Amino acid sequence: MFFVAFLGIYPVNRTPTLTVLISGRGSNLIALHERASNYRIGLVISSNSAAQGLVWAAQAGVPSQVVERGTFPSLAAFKAGVLDAVLRSQPDVVALAGFMVVLQPEFSEAFGGRLINIHPSLLPRLPGLDTHQRAIASGETEHGCTVHFVDSGVDTGPRIAQGVVPVLPGDDAAALAARTLAVEHSLYPWVTASLVRGGVQLAEGRVRYDAQAVREAHERGFRIFV
Ligand code: GAR
Repeated sequence: MFFVAFLGIYPVNRTPTLTVLISGRGSNLIALHERASNYRIGLVISSNSAAQGLVWAAQAGVPSQVVERGTFPSLAAFKAGVLDAVLRSQPDVVALAGFMVVLQPEFSEAFGGRLINIHPSLLPRLPGLDTHQRAIASGETEHGCTVHFVDSGVDTGPRIAQGVVPVLPGDDAAALAARTLAVEHSLYPWVTASLVRGGVQLAEGRVRYDAQAVREAHERGFRIFV
């Protein structure tokens, strides 16, 4: 059992688990749960005890844990506390889903090619906050979302896949955000399932896709980086 787990091959009869980190609404968390095909969510960790996503987790019977800045003496101790909580959950994959905390480098070192994030822009365009408003203000004609492996930067790391939406005349930030979010909800579960399946891998800093992942991305209209 130990060797099997060490080699990263999932033992027969054990469904791979995901630890999902949130800070708020949790709509991507819900999509990850509802569209889970080959994994299950083992734990939700929230940096905010008032997060709406925690209410959903309680109702859905998904275990959750709050790790809040206010209960730690320093920012560094808080971030170490987040890492400790994730390590204790022994996840196969860690998914950041609206987690508004910049993680320390130890995090990506611990989880390497098993740590992913979703960001509401076509990275490397528009990292950071207010992406929808900024897309409109800068006259972008296309916008969307990116799922990427997490490295030590903010909204950086090798891109796995993107969902693209048009920016339409008359769009405001709310309309563009809603159009983008709908695509997030299909993109993130698909990338997660592909990663769990081994169809998407991080190798020497580059993303590799198997033939099934390439075909499925094409069928679903997702942009990948072959
Ligand atoms: C999502 O739009 C996600 O892409 C974004 O936060 C939102 C969370 O919504 N993430 C980032 O901005 C990370 N840089 P949700 O809580 O309903 O999933």
